[in-house]
Amino acid sequence: MEKKKIILDCDPGHDDAVAIMLAAKSEKLDLLGITVVAGNQTLEKTQVNARNVCQCLGLDVPVYAGCGQPMVREKMVAADIHGETGLDGPVFEPLTKPLEEKHAVQFIIDTLMGSDGDITMVTTGPMTNLAMAMRMEPRIVEKIEQIVLMGGAYTNGNVTPAAEFNIIADADAAYVCFTSGRPITMVGLDVTRKALCYPAVVDRMEKVGNKASKLFVDLMRHFCKSQKEVFGWEGGPLHDPITIAYLLDPSVLTVKPMHAEIDIRSTQSYGRTNCDYFGYQKLEPTADVAVDIDVEKFWDIIEDGLRKY
Ligand code: BDR
Ligand code: CA
Repeated sequence: MEKKKIILDCDPGHDDAVAIMLAAKSEKLDLLGITVVAGNQTLEKTQVNARNVCQCLGLDVPVYAGCGQPMVREKMVAADIHGETGLDGPVFEPLTKPLEEKHAVQFIIDTLMGSDGDITMVTTGPMTNLAMAMRMEPRIVEKIEQIVLMGGAYTNGNVTPAAEFNIIADADAAYVCFTSGRPITMVGLDVTRKALCYPAVVDRMEKVGNKASKLFVDLMRHFCKSQKEVFGWEGGPLHDPITIAYLLDPSVLTVKPMHAEIDIRSTQSYGRTNCDYFGYQKLEPTADVAVDIDVEKFWDIIEDGLRKY
């Protein structure tokens, strides 16, 4: 079976780290590179975190650092959830895995331009790197097979009532990507909030008993603690790996085509993904928006992913 080629653009981040884990060892995916952006923490920290995860798991995947700030607005981070390092919890060995010299945006451009239009862009952080690549080299747009992103919500946000973190952290970038005309699958809070990593899930994954499950457990113990402090939940939503799980088995999500627009103009609703769930506007759908998730199937995919290490 031919592997699906992907570039994972992320801001690790506890759930980004699990997305890396799931993507890197799958026999269905060819992870061409990990591109990193500022988001959950500063770029200096997120790129170190991506390399730490790869080193800890023995992954030979190149890591590229990209944009350290949004296209237009001021940078925001999510230290309340992910901690000072952006990946609080696990203790890593001294870091030896190098950072690639090429800028992530250049890597995205070069890789897409050299491709046959068969690469999926997966974004699990603010969409700055991808949007910048589209602006720097517009010919890449038609080379993107599809964009699968974790971000947005057609219900409530998690930074404001309207906006989800990855979108509000660089709404202009999301606007560029959502108006690119490429096929988009939006995996938003509407489904990720159903994939709550309860202590029972953490215990289940711990039983896998290898280095990946240890990292998963160390990550999730911190992540769940901060989710409880911030949102009052027993289990944290494991947002980002749902993008990868969907590529591995699309039946894990139910998606609905909708016209989806990023609000970059208003004050209260800035960064909202306005999704026309009921089709009121009679406009062409611009995204397949995830509306439901088979949670049991998702945890099975995570466990299978951990067992590959
Ligand atoms: C998203 O924001 C980040 O904190 C997580 O890594 C995830 O990508 C959820 O809103
Ligand atoms: Ca993320």
